[in-house]
Order: sequence, then C-alpha cells, then structure tokens
Amino acid sequence: MNPLNLPSRTAGQHGPLPDFLPAEADVADVVSVIAPTGDRIWLVTAYDLGRAVLTDERFSRAAAVTPEAPAVHPMRPDPAALTSLDPPQHTRLRRLVNRPFTPRAVAGLEEGIRRQARRLLAGRDRIDLVAEYAMPLSATTICRVLGVPEAEHDRFAGLADRALGITTGTFEEQGPARDALRAYIRELIDRARRDPGEHVLGTLATAYDEGGALSHDELTALVELLLNAGYETSIGQLGLAVVSLLEHPDQWHRLATAPHRETAAAVEELLRHAPVVPMSFTRVARQDVRLGPVVVRAGEALVVSLLHANFDARAHRDPARLDITRCPARHLTFGHGAHTCLGAQLARTQLRVALEELATAASGLTPHIPLPSLPWRQPEAVVRGPLTLPVNLTGSGRSWGRRCSSQP
Ligand code: HEM
Repeated sequence: MNPLNLPSRTAGQHGPLPDFLPAEADVADVVSVIAPTGDRIWLVTAYDLGRAVLTDERFSRAAAVTPEAPAVHPMRPDPAALTSLDPPQHTRLRRLVNRPFTPRAVAGLEEGIRRQARRLLAGRDRIDLVAEYAMPLSATTICRVLGVPEAEHDRFAGLADRALGITTGTFEEQGPARDALRAYIRELIDRARRDPGEHVLGTLATAYDEGGALSHDELTALVELLLNAGYETSIGQLGLAVVSLLEHPDQWHRLATAPHRETAAAVEELLRHAPVVPMSFTRVARQDVRLGPVVVRAGEALVVSLLHANFDARAHRDPARLDITRCPARHLTFGHGAHTCLGAQLARTQLRVALEELATAASGLTPHIPLPSLPWRQPEAVVRGPLTLPVNLTGSGRSWGRRCSSQP
C-alpha cells in the first residue's frame, strides 16, 4: 500500500484515534492488531478490499455479538439491535424503518433544517459550532423523524449529550446517564403504543402491537439505535468537517464562494477526509476466508478501517490533500453492503445544509481558540469529534462559483 499520511495523525488536529489503528505509512492491506479488550482482530485498511468485505456474507455481524466472540470494545452491542443481525432478520427489520430515510423523505426535511440553521446563526459573530449549532440541528432533525414531541427535543438532547459524552464526560460518568436515556426511550415507546401518530415511533409501535413484526427487545434497541446513531454522528461529522476546513482556509474560501448546487460534492470530500466513524463494526468469519496473503480463520474477527480505506492512494489521487472539488470523492464513511448507513442521506443533507448556511452567514471563518488545543471525544468512543468548536464569523457569504476537478 502506498504511504499513508493521515492528517489526523500528522497535524494532530482531528483528535485522538484508538491506539490500535496503525499510524505508520506502509501499512499492509490486512493487519493483525490487538484491540483494547486484549482480543486479536484483523484490520482491513484497503479501499477495494474493505468494500468487498462489507458485502461478503461469509462475515457475520450476529456471530460478532456473541459473548465468546473476539471484540474491539468492552461494551457488548445489544444482540437485538439492527446492527447486530444477519439476513433474513436484518432485512426484515431494516424494511420496517427504511421509509423515512429515503432521499424523497429526507428532501422533505431540508427546508426545516435550513430555517433552523439560519435562526441559530442569525446575528452571531462567534458561535460554538458543537453546542450551539450541530447539537440543536441534529437533535431537532432526528426527533422530528422519529416523532419525539417538539417540546421535548431539548430534554432528549441533554440526556443524549450526557449518555454519549458528546460535549463532556468519561465513560464512568456516562453509565447513569445511559440508564436515564434508556428510561426516556422506554417512555417514548409506551406513549407511541398508546397514541401511535404518523412518525417512526408510531409505525414501529404499531408493527409491534398489531403485526408482531418485531419483538419488544428489537423495538427498544431499534429506537435507541436510531436516536443515538442519528444524533451523535451528525454532530461529530459537522465538527470534523469544519475542523478540516479551518485547517485548509483556501478550501473554506472555495466553499464559501461556491454556488449551492456544488456543495454536495464538497460534502463527499469532507466525509472522505474526516470520517466521524473511523472503523466499521466487527464481523466474525463463518468459515476460513482468504484475503490476499492472509487467511481469516472461522471464528476470527475483522474490522474495516474506514479511515484508512478513505486514504488508500490506489482509490484516491493524492489522498492526504483536502480538495472539495474532487469528484467523485469516493469513500467508505457510511460503510457498504447490507449494513450501510441507514441515515446516510439524512446525514449528507444535514451536513450540506449546515455548511451552506454557515457559508451564507459568513465568508470568514476562523477558530476562536487554536486548533491544536481543541478538546476531543475520547479515542475509545465509536464516534469521534471535537467536544467544543468555537469559531469567529466575519464578512458576508457567497458570490461566485467553481468547477469540479477530475479524479481517478
Ligand atoms: C455523518 C454521519 C454518519 C456516519 C458517518 C454514519 C456511519 C455509519 C456506518 C459506517 C455504518 C455502518 C457500520 C458497519 O456496517 O459496520 C452506519 C450504520 C447505521 N447508521 Fe449511520 N452514520 C451517520 C449518520 C446516521 C444518521 C443520521 C442515522 C439516522 C438514524 C444513522 C443510522 C444508522 C443505522 C440505523 C445504521 C445501521 C444500519 C444497519 O445495520 O443496517 N446514521 N452508519
């Protein structure tokens, strides 16, 4: 593999990464690493191989959540969660929740996200883009999709912040907060069962009560996954994208002066360059599988480093360079295959609209504290991102356009 030059390691400004993710330049396509649990895990670092593995049914998610399976994180995933299932159980459950995440359904949310973004930025010349922008945008969006009442968005955001450690906290402090968030989610489900309404919560509650299409454990795990995954990823991703742009002021200038129709391409490059989830969930081989020179034995675990795949020089020209005109900017930031991110379209829309409105509000964006002193989420967290991101907003927004560069 060609030399890697991960900006997160070299500049130290994309925050800490888990120790077992190799930082060295000449990392092989498949390497053996020791996870924080002490378990040995295969790590796939190549783009094409990573994509292939994520669609390969010889690797199982269900086998990766059993108590005896090698694991990356000490906290075992819920075996009833959508992310923990293989087909056909996975297909059945995913079909139940697909509809509000289709491009068409997400397009219907865009205007609301834009109006809120404008309101949050109005009259500001300094703003913490985590606490005062990404968090309220993300909370409102996912709560609207699920059908959490408007008056309770702040309650959800506060509980989720403490439970997931988005702006503060250690894993120990998160324990009781997680219990409180779970209790709130159970309360939401109970209410949806009594009065379903038309949103995801109601649809799922009805599917449980009337059709027996999912078990109570699956229902609870699904709502928890949608609320949590839908909330913290979008917050971290906006923070990371803005940090990348602050590190590359020329790219911010391009974005700030680009017509709206071109920001979709810029978003893909930002997703490639600073993926908020640096690696896939663990999969376990059902049988011996040869991956290049390596044989992954049945029962062994494997993870795809989405971050390394996004910087594989065979798939991306000059991968360390942030080039928002790169198109297409291919990446594995949303995973691939059956478990590919359900909220990808929603996440893309939120990121694009948040950046467009930021660029419309201010042509000048500078960090209010030096980037190297930004505090970051703990490296063991599945989702990364800055805990705070205070920036200064100056000047007025967009005026002229630009073109896409070509890409291998
Ligand atoms: C930039 C933001 C986001 C990123 C980078 C991201 C990334 C990912 C990745 C990498 C996976 C697959 C992991 C694997 O297969 O190993 C995934 C799955 C998933 N994501 Fe996202 N995600 C984001 C936002 C969201 C949002 C907004 C939602 C909304 C609910 C969401 C819901 C889910 C769900 C439900 C799954 C599991 C899908 C399945 O197992 O079938 N994500 N995400």
